[in-house]
Amino acid sequence: MTQANTAPLGFEVEPLDSALGARIHGIDLRTPLTSEVSQGLRDTLYEYQVLFFRDQPLSDQQHLALAQNFGTPNLYPVNEMLGIHEPLEFVEDGPGKKPVAAAWHTDVTWLQDPPKIGILAAQIMPAEGGDTMWCSLYSVYDALSREMRERIQNLTVAHAAGPGFVELVIKRFGDEFVARFEELYGSGSRHPLIRNHEVVGRPLVYLAGGFMDHIEGQDIDSGRRLLKELMSIADDPVHQIRWKWAVDDLAIWDERSTMHRVDTSHWPEPRRMRRCTIS
Ligand code: SIN
Repeated sequence: MTQANTAPLGFEVEPLDSALGARIHGIDLRTPLTSEVSQGLRDTLYEYQVLFFRDQPLSDQQHLALAQNFGTPNLYPVNEMLGIHEPLEFVEDGPGKKPVAAAWHTDVTWLQDPPKIGILAAQIMPAEGGDTMWCSLYSVYDALSREMRERIQNLTVAHAAGPGFVELVIKRFGDEFVARFEELYGSGSRHPLIRNHEVVGRPLVYLAGGFMDHIEGQDIDSGRRLLKELMSIADDPVHQIRWKWAVDDLAIWDERSTMHRVDTSHWPEPRRMRRCTIS
């Protein structure tokens, strides 16, 4: 195990043997963090993109208090529409409810100002499966040929919640709800395909899986073919980390430089995660 900077940070960092990710030791996230530790965790997050912690049995309130170290917890747009003004979300599946996060995505990129950080805590885990994978969008950028970088350098992608999301997530609330959702969010958002991370300054390919609808100014089909080609580069495990959860594990990730997805092979065995995102 490699550990770095234990003394100044107040916790230990174990870089994982992957394109991204580190495990953090020696910290109890239930207790308020000092400003030094809080800053240290933010810096470490920006370095490793996703941080993993074992044995963190946080209450809902402690989860939210932890989130405050990284910014302001968001309300999920669909919940807000349902009148739920509570930033914690529960990602649950089991008999009678299919998993919703099986495909690569970055959260809510159909907003012009999507979440910047996510915090996920494992509450009910199946015996097998239910792992979460994260993909480093820096690593994907680094792997591109110079020709491809030049080709996509100035492109803008139109993001939309899309028919898959509507089918899986909001159709159950009825046609009227879908119509209201379309009214509020139907125009989606626009994001550059290549950008520099706003804190780190490092270039990345801003991929968001099925939330990417088309490339602006390009024929729809050829734009989608290009996005598919980039997604297939991201699909190489060399750019990824896979986390096998135990109950009370917690992960904090940088939404701007990663995508994530869940291995749903556990289904219909129940799985429950508590989550919030931060702007
Ligand atoms: C999500 O944020 O997409 C859910 C991830 C997970 O349940 O592991």
